[in-house]
Amino acid sequence: MYKIFITRRIPDAGIEMLKKQKGFDVKVSPYDRVLSKREIIKMARGCDALLSLLTDKIDGEVMDGMGKQLKIIANYAVGFNNIDLKAAKERKIMVTNTPGPEISESVAEHTFALMLAISKRLVESDNFLRRGKYKGWAPMLLLDTDVHHKTLGVVGLGAIGRSVVERAVKGFKMKVVYYDVKRDKAFEKEYKAKFVSLKELLKTADFVSLHVPLLPSTTHLIGKKELEMMKKSAFLINTARGPVIDEKALVLALRSNKIAGAGLDVYEFEPKVVSGLTRLSNTVLTPHTASATIEARSAMAVAAAKNIIAAFRGKTPPNLLK
Ligand code: GLV
Ligand code: GLV
Repeated sequence: MYKIFITRRIPDAGIEMLKKQKGFDVKVSPYDRVLSKREIIKMARGCDALLSLLTDKIDGEVMDGMGKQLKIIANYAVGFNNIDLKAAKERKIMVTNTPGPEISESVAEHTFALMLAISKRLVESDNFLRRGKYKGWAPMLLLDTDVHHKTLGVVGLGAIGRSVVERAVKGFKMKVVYYDVKRDKAFEKEYKAKFVSLKELLKTADFVSLHVPLLPSTTHLIGKKELEMMKKSAFLINTARGPVIDEKALVLALRSNKIAGAGLDVYEFEPKVVSGLTRLSNTVLTPHTASATIEARSAMAVAAAKNIIAAFRGKTPPNLLK
């Protein structure tokens, strides 16, 4: 019998898939909340697989607490900064995530939703109307900014960054500059994208969109200095991970109009947000819901289940992290 523990209820598609497998014993946390480390250890002790969420911090202590039989940690997320990969490797535990076209496209759509919402002053306009301030059409009322033909700066050209570029070029006729640790010349040719330094990107982009994983090298990648390099008319979009931006520095830059605005889905200390951020009108803020479409979350649940099934059927899990 393979014992699987799921730290919180996820879409049925994934749970059902696991339950249907012969010899699988699937347990889901009875609480609809984040579990403490101690609770995870207690509830998952003796399990062969852990299906974790991005809100679960899985370190060596949790791995040891679960026991030596632990074979795979299947994270229900594209990002995996919540898991200590080195500790897993030392213990020969496999770790997987849930990338895939459905998720990349959903996050890319949300990225565009934020780009459009902030540049069109959508939330501000909605509030204006609801508060009864709309007294009649006026030529200068709530003037905003175009997205089409502007320059998009993509930081991190992974699957999500690519999906964003595709929409930018094909849908909005945008010019693209990108920065990554790796260059992709075929992609550059296909989308007329220009590979530039981060500094050059920040200086030229009208929209800067972040799509890097959270690593020591990407923590506070965007701080005071970088925000000062951006155009005063530029917008910053983050659907990656909160700590990629120094959020305190961002609030100061937004407050003093050093940049035009920000569309954020993730926060440095989430679920908390840095003081002052919610009082600014030049922000659009969503609660880490970029992948929260019914379709994408189902696909993620199925991907996590498939990774676990492969691990116990002697196959390489499709999304094994190295
Ligand atoms: C969400 O943030 C994810 O990493 O899937
Ligand atoms: C990052 O998580 C990506 O797949 O782009």
